[in-house]
Amino acid sequence: MRRRSLLGVAAAAGLAGAAAACEDEPAAAPAPAGAPPLIPTDWASVRAQFTIGADVAHLSTFVFAPHPAQVRAAIERHRAGLDADPIGYLHENEARLDERVATAAAGYLGARPDEIAFTDSTTMGLGLLYSGLRLGRGDEVLTTEHDFYATHESLRLRAERDGITVRRARLYADPATASTDEIVGNLTRAVTGRTRVVAVTWVHSSTGVKLPIRAMADALRDRDVPLCVDAVHGFGAEDAGPADLGCDFLVSGCHKWLLGPRGTGLVWGSAEGWARFTPVIPTFDGRSIGAWLGFAGGAPPPGPAATPGGYHSFEHRWALAEAFDFHQAIGRERVAGRTRELATALKEGLAGIGGITLATPKSPELSAGLVCCQVPDVSVDEAVARLRGLKVVASATPYRPSLVRFGTTIVNREADVEAALTAARTLV
Ligand SMILES: Cc1ncc(COP(=O)(O)O)c(C=O)c1O
Repeated sequence: MRRRSLLGVAAAAGLAGAAAACEDEPAAAPAPAGAPPLIPTDWASVRAQFTIGADVAHLSTFVFAPHPAQVRAAIERHRAGLDADPIGYLHENEARLDERVATAAAGYLGARPDEIAFTDSTTMGLGLLYSGLRLGRGDEVLTTEHDFYATHESLRLRAERDGITVRRARLYADPATASTDEIVGNLTRAVTGRTRVVAVTWVHSSTGVKLPIRAMADALRDRDVPLCVDAVHGFGAEDAGPADLGCDFLVSGCHKWLLGPRGTGLVWGSAEGWARFTPVIPTFDGRSIGAWLGFAGGAPPPGPAATPGGYHSFEHRWALAEAFDFHQAIGRERVAGRTRELATALKEGLAGIGGITLATPKSPELSAGLVCCQVPDVSVDEAVARLRGLKVVASATPYRPSLVRFGTTIVNREADVEAALTAARTLV
């Protein structure tokens, strides 16, 4: 009785109808019409897996992802099965598909399946993490001025609930000229004897700065302070997993750079990290439900224990396996290289347009696929609207000050970068 839901436990206990074991893969739905075979080494073939509009330069797919053909087909397959027989399909496939998703995620992260909790988004993961870490009144969480609303608000709510103290450090003065020494120095100076947790973001959606997480983790090594990372703008864009980063928690949505099913995310934690965490929402892991029913058996491992229970949009959750397979087929390193190559071309081009100020560092050491800039004499919203009028999809950063933001995922083509530069020239 491992990864099985309430229904499965009830059936195993003879409390519901017998469960028909199904070892076979559900009948594969035909690939979505028009999707050619994937040639992982050919970027045109990668792009052809998406149905995103061809006449527009979509430089914001990292905000909310389009699905590649493999993910669309998996969603359709599971949806058809669930619509035909919701309980039967769930019962026959849940344990195996949950296992498959956890194994695929672990393979991608270079981690163990039992270390991973599954969520619906980065925000859900951050909310669970910062609610569940064991902290008492007066304990301090150190975060930064550069984090997104989801981190700040999760911590504000925790402070309101439990009386913890939250402090924000500034890690760099000017994003464009930030350095590893500056960031690590400012971090270590901000940690005090009362700091119990450090909460940061890998790639800042405000500026495009990629924090040197490994160097930060090394600097905190002797402090016994877990390093928690909102990883969403590095996950699926960078060639690094938790072992490379050295953090204690990595929280991400899977519906941004990973281009996975919308409404999916995960939290990875180290053994030491999970040891400091109490789950917030009851898991539907069979071991936990079994204990509730009075059966002997072990407790779930930390990842499954932290995975919120209740029924989910399973067609999306289970299609995560295909999203990881898609990235693995291309290769994490090649995905990162492509993301960097397109972002570098965009940064070089924008920096060469008189009047536009690049906020994102040019160095790939301190940047990933996000590219943020300031445009003179025009509001950010107006700049984004004018770009869209020229068939270039950018976004306005949800921060003060707001910047014009682009992002180059593996959906993008060189022509998208050229179109963005041509359109940006009309703004100045
Ligand atoms: C840094 C950062 N974290 C989290 C989020 C929210 O991600 P999700 O939609 O997966 O909750 C965003 C933006 O949407 C973000 O920029």
